[in-house]
Amino acid sequence: MRTLGIETSCDETAVALLDGDGCVVADLLTSQVARHAPYGGVVPELASREHLRALPWMVERVLVEAGAPPELVAVTGGPGLIGALLVGVRFAAAFAWGRGLPLVAVDHLAGHLASPFVRRDGSPAAPTPDPTLALVASGGHSAWYLVTADGARRLCRTRDDAAGETLDKVAQALGLGYPGGPVIDRLARLGDPAAVELPRPRIKDASDDLSFSGLKSAAIREVRRLGLAGTGKDGLPRAGLDLVAALEAAVIDQLLAPLPRLLERHRPAAIAVAGGVAANTLLRTRIEADGREAGVPVAIPERALTTDNAVMIARAGQLAAARGELSDPRRLDAWTREVWQPPGMRRPRRDGFG
Ligand code: KG4
Ligand code: ZN
Repeated sequence: MRTLGIETSCDETAVALLDGDGCVVADLLTSQVARHAPYGGVVPELASREHLRALPWMVERVLVEAGAPPELVAVTGGPGLIGALLVGVRFAAAFAWGRGLPLVAVDHLAGHLASPFVRRDGSPAAPTPDPTLALVASGGHSAWYLVTADGARRLCRTRDDAAGETLDKVAQALGLGYPGGPVIDRLARLGDPAAVELPRPRIKDASDDLSFSGLKSAAIREVRRLGLAGTGKDGLPRAGLDLVAALEAAVIDQLLAPLPRLLERHRPAAIAVAGGVAANTLLRTRIEADGREAGVPVAIPERALTTDNAVMIARAGQLAAARGELSDPRRLDAWTREVWQPPGMRRPRRDGFG
């Protein structure tokens, strides 16, 4: 079914239209990064207002560009900022209700998990190998999932900060601006990761859970010890470049630490990576190498599909609709937290529909 996708969970307003095979027909995104930059992070109320301003003309333009009307509407229902989500959910529900179209509320993480299997070059979406072991690493999430035909199951997650958040906080301390990930990616290429020692704390229980807060604190202490607080990207001396490279390497070590055990336990048909941090040069190289070594193919999204976008939401919506997970436009609500069902079970319905 031709699918209209809408994403407003954080600071990007995104609208896309995919044909029934998951080919991208139209794809539009407006970023609010510049609006939030002066505050060093996303201001929720500001985000809601910007979504409200952008969404109507963006949907209009995508429909004109697509040339033919959608047959399904997919919208991010959560997790995310509640006000921001509600703008998208209400808009999508009204749109679907007014036109008599089926509506599907997509989990934002399920969206990211679909992103490695969509291309924007006019080719159809690839089926997700069953099972796929997938890492989602972004500013708000860092977790490994097992993706099967029934949906996704979370295997382990960070107990404290997310990987992207860690990079953003240390970048902020160095005066590199927000978001820090892309700048760190550039500067790390100029430094020596072995020149600075940073901790890689593990959670001391039977889980494969991750932790980034000890690493973040150690890196920020190092920023202060070296007198680099607020230096900015142009004045960063050798020691700063080394620190940035060491931080990037440590964050990636933390993200990939559970991989050998997960590979052994789940024997996946593929490994995938998604989320904003999946744009990172070193992470892409490292996970490719790990896959090669294990003899398991690795699926990596194009950089444009790593950050929040509506293409992945539309695609995840198609997969969810194929499983019969439709929502009632009169009752659909947004959810702020991640909800994951046990293996083989459907997510409990939040809208009393179906
Ligand atoms: O998925 P995303 O756009 O938004 C969330 O759902 O959080 O991810 C944004 C995160 C930010 O923390 C940003 O610093 C990080 O992804 N990021 C990167 C890179 N590009 C974005 N981190 C490392 N290397 C990059 N190239
Ligand atoms: Zn995201």
